[in-house]
Amino acid sequence: MPTPSKTTIHELAASVNQLHLLAFWGQLDAAGRHRLEDQLRSFDWNQIAACQQLAASRQSTTAKAPPLDLSGARTPPCHSLSSGDPAVIKAGREALAAGSVGAILVAGGQGTRLGFDGPKGTFPIGPVSRATLFELLFGSLKAVERRYGRWVPLAIMTSTATDAATREFLNQHQYCGLDPKQVLLFRQGTLPAVDAVNGQLLLDAPDHVAVAPDGHGGMLAALAAAGGLDWFASQGVETVVSFQVDNPLARPLDPEFIGRHRLTAATFSTQIVPKTDPTERVGVVVEQNGITRVVEYSDLPEILAAEQLADGQLRFHAGSIAIHAFDRSFLEQAAANTDSLPLHLAHKKVPFLDADGQLVEPASPNAFKFERFIFDLMPLAERVSVVEVSAAEGFAPLKNPSGAVSDSPETVHQAMVDYARRHLAAAGITVADGIDVELDAATILDDDDLRQFAAAGSLPGNRIDQPQVVRAGEHR
Ligand code: UD1
Repeated sequence: MPTPSKTTIHELAASVNQLHLLAFWGQLDAAGRHRLEDQLRSFDWNQIAACQQLAASRQSTTAKAPPLDLSGARTPPCHSLSSGDPAVIKAGREALAAGSVGAILVAGGQGTRLGFDGPKGTFPIGPVSRATLFELLFGSLKAVERRYGRWVPLAIMTSTATDAATREFLNQHQYCGLDPKQVLLFRQGTLPAVDAVNGQLLLDAPDHVAVAPDGHGGMLAALAAAGGLDWFASQGVETVVSFQVDNPLARPLDPEFIGRHRLTAATFSTQIVPKTDPTERVGVVVEQNGITRVVEYSDLPEILAAEQLADGQLRFHAGSIAIHAFDRSFLEQAAANTDSLPLHLAHKKVPFLDADGQLVEPASPNAFKFERFIFDLMPLAERVSVVEVSAAEGFAPLKNPSGAVSDSPETVHQAMVDYARRHLAAAGITVADGIDVELDAATILDDDDLRQFAAAGSLPGNRIDQPQVVRAGEHR
């Protein structure tokens, strides 16, 4: 590989067999030349060579992945997130009270399916409050801090697509109640797309190579490069949880989840929901030959996804909700090895410049994009702990636009209202039929808070007749 600083840009491009990327060099002004040169010099060409090699192994007209061998694979044993086991709860509470738990929120996705123009975290989803996903998720971090007396350091992963708007939103909303010192924003990287036929990189402008975000697995390298792992260490963090921006019911800091991780001495813990519909778009946690891993839904053939056990349960029913816990030291070891996470490729439509410099919008997939997935660290973990939560209690993802049958703003609203009604009822508070209620994330962490709220008698007759956000210590 060339040493970038000593070579001219033409020598660099020639040495990696990508001279075509300079096809419009003669027509570029100084700024355009800088832009293209900077981009080409910023690339990790060894990594690109690995992408091209993977693409070459898949270069067929159908671009089908090789068949997946799941012989002998099964769903691993799962613990319940609501076991009520006092030792587990105690271990989790102690970890939180010691300030030894940190969190990573992955918020780099473009939310293409949702069709929302902005970072998904800024989508107003509270059924009554209209609070954004960021406000709800950060509110629950605030509630943890209030309960345990220590804040949870939060690293937020953005991407080129979401970084500026996320920073602007956080500044405008005073970090949704978090202390800015508690938050580290870092941006995931990109990887170039390659032509599906010849493996060449593509220009999408005369001075720009087509690139795409490198997947949420990009978190590992990007967090390490941003000093995030040291930042966690400097605050005494031993366990790091990660969660996705699209799930307002996420419980990454549930004491049972943390406590189980600690007590089982797991290196990697993960939350699952029982999958009942074979077409549900969730990865599944499987165990095969003593190795536990996630098989992504797009990789699981329909026939295997629909396979049933004798009792009618799906054979692969541990639906991943992408809430994980890792030992910080495990993340450090994994980050030190660039090959820890394999590349996944996807056959996609990528606009490109033709030989005349015209932008072509392909009608069918023409290129491969590359991503890494954080759950691919699972097979490297010495001990994996799988924890089951019901969807009603921990999984209501926002993926699709209004009107979709699943994972839409309407289904998320309903799930949040149902959640609130159920927990209010358990605390002895009656909600009139058809009334939307919402629990304030920042002041109601769990049923203990609700019971105290009910006991304080702030609601006449402990009854709710109007739509409202229930806030502990306050009644609106
Ligand atoms: C994802 C999981 C799937 C899981 C499901 C649960 C992957 C590959 N699949 O599927 O196993 O069952 O969630 O809801 O993750 N993101 C980035 N950078 C990227 C791409 C994504 O930060 O380059 C973030 C998004 O902001 C989002 C999360 O990762 O928070 C998931 O991305 P999404 O594309 O919605 O994944 P799914 O296909 O729904």
